Amino acid sequence: MKKYLILTGAGISAESGIRTFRDNDGLWEDHDVNEVASIDGYRRNPELVWRFYKARYAQSMEVSPNPGHYALVELEKALGDNFHIITQNVDALHIRAGNQRVIEMHGSLQDCFCESCDTHYKMADIDLSLARPLCPKCTGFLRPDIVWFGEIPYKMEQIEALLRKCDLFMVIGTSGVVYPAAGLVMTAKYLGAKTIAVNLEKPDNLSFIDEFHQGKSGEILPKLIKEIMENL
Ligand code: OAD
Repeated sequence: MKKYLILTGAGISAESGIRTFRDNDGLWEDHDVNEVASIDGYRRNPELVWRFYKARYAQSMEVSPNPGHYALVELEKALGDNFHIITQNVDALHIRAGNQRVIEMHGSLQDCFCESCDTHYKMADIDLSLARPLCPKCTGFLRPDIVWFGEIPYKMEQIEALLRKCDLFMVIGTSGVVYPAAGLVMTAKYLGAKTIAVNLEKPDNLSFIDEFHQGKSGEILPKLIKEIMENL
């Protein structure tokens, strides 16, 4: 059976009601990315950064997965170990939809960890009323478990191993401008995979895409994945 590797970005969650970053009305229009999504910004003003991620965490818990997420659950059920999702999203919607083989390369809004003793916690188990939440174990400062600009994404070795083995690489809802995620499609193509993109606008890395489906992932994916499953 062919091996499928999926890379998702903010676009797949847009139809769930979560704002993307770079579209009109994207998050980076009214937030300074250097202040709320960089390690330097966090050191300058941790309380501002916590306010931003507490609000995003609360919002992510209010929304639900959409038909695009659920289509990927069906594909995983059909493919089992021959299927993996790498997501840049921190909203946990793939996991809440029911996908199991999910790599959250930019971390998760659901998680935080202690800067002093490195203990990891679920946000749900932490006192979020403090402007700067503290570690229950050592009273050190907690930080959101998000990979910020200036930090290295998670699980890059596992991602590289999956890239080497995949036959089909599908990119969904990402502008293709943030590296290293944006470079994965190029690597997959050079390593011999067929590349497919599903996106509202043309992504920056379109030249590495063999098959482009333009439109909303919540509308395109259920049909596209049904076709893929009929031909497995
Ligand atoms: P972007 O906001 O850069 O791109 C979202 C893409 O989704 C755009 O190309 C849109 O055209 C497309 N899109 C919007 N609605 C869609 C829909 N309904 N169906 C399909 N596509 C749709 O978001 P990302 O590429 O995910 O990193 O951004 C990458 C990283 O930049 C994020 O993980 C985040 C951000 O800064 C960090 O915070 C570290």
